[in-house]
Amino acid sequence: MPLPEVLDLLMTDRLEDAACALARESEPDPVLKNLIARARGRDKPLASLTADLPEYVVVNPSYTCNIGCKMCITGFHNKTEIDPNYKYLSPEQFEKAKPWIRTGTHVFFVGIGETLDSPHLFDFLEDVDGPVKVVTTSGVPLTREKIRMMIETGVQILNFSFDGKTSVGHGDGKDTYIKNIWNKIDLVRKVKEELSSETPVMGLNVTVNRENLSDLDNLFTQARERDIRDILLLPMSVVEDSGRISPMLYEKSFGPDFDRCSAEFKNIVDRWNRNGLRLQVNAYSEYHERAEVCSYVDNTIQIHGLSSGPNICCGKIEMPLTFWDTPPEEYWNSLPFRYFRYLHFVGERKGLPRECQDCWILETRRYYKTCGEALHTAPLKVDPIPVYQEASRLKLEGLWNQAEARFKEVLTLTEDDALKGGVYFHLTEIELGRGNDEEALDCIQKCIQHNFDHKRGWAYLSLLMRITGLPKVDRRQDKFPLTYHPEIKPGGLLV
Ligand SMILES: C[S@@+](CC[C@H](N)C(=O)[O-])C[C@H]1O[C@@H](n2cnc3c(N)ncnc32)[C@H](O)[C@@H]1O
Ligand code: SF4
Ligand code: SF4
Repeated sequence: MPLPEVLDLLMTDRLEDAACALARESEPDPVLKNLIARARGRDKPLASLTADLPEYVVVNPSYTCNIGCKMCITGFHNKTEIDPNYKYLSPEQFEKAKPWIRTGTHVFFVGIGETLDSPHLFDFLEDVDGPVKVVTTSGVPLTREKIRMMIETGVQILNFSFDGKTSVGHGDGKDTYIKNIWNKIDLVRKVKEELSSETPVMGLNVTVNRENLSDLDNLFTQARERDIRDILLLPMSVVEDSGRISPMLYEKSFGPDFDRCSAEFKNIVDRWNRNGLRLQVNAYSEYHERAEVCSYVDNTIQIHGLSSGPNICCGKIEMPLTFWDTPPEEYWNSLPFRYFRYLHFVGERKGLPRECQDCWILETRRYYKTCGEALHTAPLKVDPIPVYQEASRLKLEGLWNQAEARFKEVLTLTEDDALKGGVYFHLTEIELGRGNDEEALDCIQKCIQHNFDHKRGWAYLSLLMRITGLPKVDRRQDKFPLTYHPEIKPGGLLV
């Protein structure tokens, strides 16, 4: 197995350094060694696909929550912490996140658990100077004192997540909970008045499903009465943090009655947008069943202190490159990011990672359809693992044709993307053994498509793209243009 350092060096295009690091290993990986030797002197792949650093930097300060929303996308529906030994983003980690924050237009403090649980939140807020500061919270732990501290630390936007009447949303949609949150919102207005502060301006984050669709008019009326104009609407995700589709959430989502819910939702969004509110569905100013372009790509990075890499959206895509000590420009323009840009802005949609193809944000209609189908499809009876193991053995013995046939059989026996990613990785090595570089490139692209976190896959991809000079880039689509509380600029209101 090559050292993680070698893989990171290849992902950041440092071919010569990777060659040296590999040579220092006692038993250098022969496939990688050969690929590096052949890639030497070739151009860096997708070199034109660099981008400015992200405008939105999302910082997740807390990994605890005891509010227990049944729909909770980050896993707090059935637990109050992720790891008892690691509950909050540490000040040291925050220090390392600061170079990213400095260049952003907005910094969002939100989740992964309840934002206000973090004992460091106000120190972080105090420490940020430059971008618009946004805090998103359930509002439950909000007190007069915390509102005062938000004003003092210059929080410009304060979002409350609550969803009105839905049994799976914040406070189970109970009347007492809803009343409490409106009272908190009124308290913020009162404290602002007392301290003669125009900020924080308030907004709502509302998760939408079949249950609360008919309550939205009521929710928006109450928001408008309190001068809240900006409301972010999120069609409810039904996939738990574990990756499992929740049948209970699906039943309450748009999924089982998509055509009607989708039409009604569109109607509500359009009507209220004409009526003085600024509703956004995810980051889009209108609701689409299928968006033109992903609003996250090139716009957002989400920094947390958990063991995996940073996220680039609310979905499951995680970046494979080691994060904390790589300078932002290098990290943001490393091969995984350039390739991700290529997939979104140059290539065809069918080449996107699996997560993106069925994404609740980009492909809302398809997302609910796929989830519904997955829930109603009986699992296959044949266990793919023994077939995979046999295929691997055949490959080791050099029986490529037989191995290939068995690996392809695995693809028909499983819906597990990580396993499919593994199959395509082996198929890549078989094609390399046969001397078919372009076929190998095709297989390694499929490996990454199914398992975006396949570090060795990334190393092969970087080298095969150098060797083949593929894919070519003529033109790229522009990233999605973000707008958010447009009158609020860093440091103050501009109205
Ligand atoms: C996970 S919470 C973390 C911050 C804080 N605890 C809160 O509730 O605002 C971040 C956002 O995710 C939203 N959310 C939670 N579960 C969701 C789901 N199943 N679908 C869509 N959005 C969801 C919440 O409403 C909230 O706005
Ligand atoms: S308050 Fe936020 S983090 Fe906590 S359970 Fe609800 S959505 Fe999840
Ligand atoms: S999973 Fe969805 S939101 Fe995330 S990058 Fe892909 S298309 Fe965008």
